[in-house]
Amino acid sequence: MTWSDPDVGRTVVERDELQDRVAQLGKDITSDYADRPPLLVGVLKGAFMFMSDLARAIDLPVEFDFMAVSSYGSATRTSGVVRIIKDLDLDLTGRHVVIVEDIVDSGLTLAYLRKNLAARGPASLEVCALLLKEGLQKVDPDLRYVGFRIPPAFVVGYGLDVGERYRNLPFIAEYAGQLPERH
Ligand code: IMP
Ligand code: MG
Repeated sequence: MTWSDPDVGRTVVERDELQDRVAQLGKDITSDYADRPPLLVGVLKGAFMFMSDLARAIDLPVEFDFMAVSSYGSATRTSGVVRIIKDLDLDLTGRHVVIVEDIVDSGLTLAYLRKNLAARGPASLEVCALLLKEGLQKVDPDLRYVGFRIPPAFVVGYGLDVGERYRNLPFIAEYAGQLPERH
């Protein structure tokens, strides 16, 4: 397959930049969590690719769980009202939890997730987000780990979609097409 799709716009993060940064994040997590192996909680579907690369860059016996959420609102704007589509399988009590997110835009989805997971009694709770859109957060996102700070355009690739497409692009690009009204 080639990606000569006209809707795939300017590249925001190249493939090798992703690899280097994810490797570094893995090293940071490895040293920060050396004495307390973390439970990685991936937020589906967007974080699946980042989670899989990140986990392989962590030199510790990590455990995994996944959660799927859906936020009400338009395709490009979240309302902050989040619904859990798939909940975690594991108990978080006493665990050192790292939420792995694809992108933080308004920060509303993450604010909801953090509050929800914090109520389950983890020993610690931190966030590792691949992308942070600059200047758009309505609430302080308080991210322990951030891959890249990017300008506020809609992006696709490396797990991120528009209408379920482009998740398998091996780099992050601006979406240059028409955005749908709703998810
Ligand atoms: P927030 O609640 O506004 O921070 O939105 C977070 C969620 O919206 C992410 O987990 C993504 O699923 C989605 N999202 C936000 N911005 C983008 C984007 O540029 N491309 C693809 N999905 C996005
Ligand atoms: Mg999406």
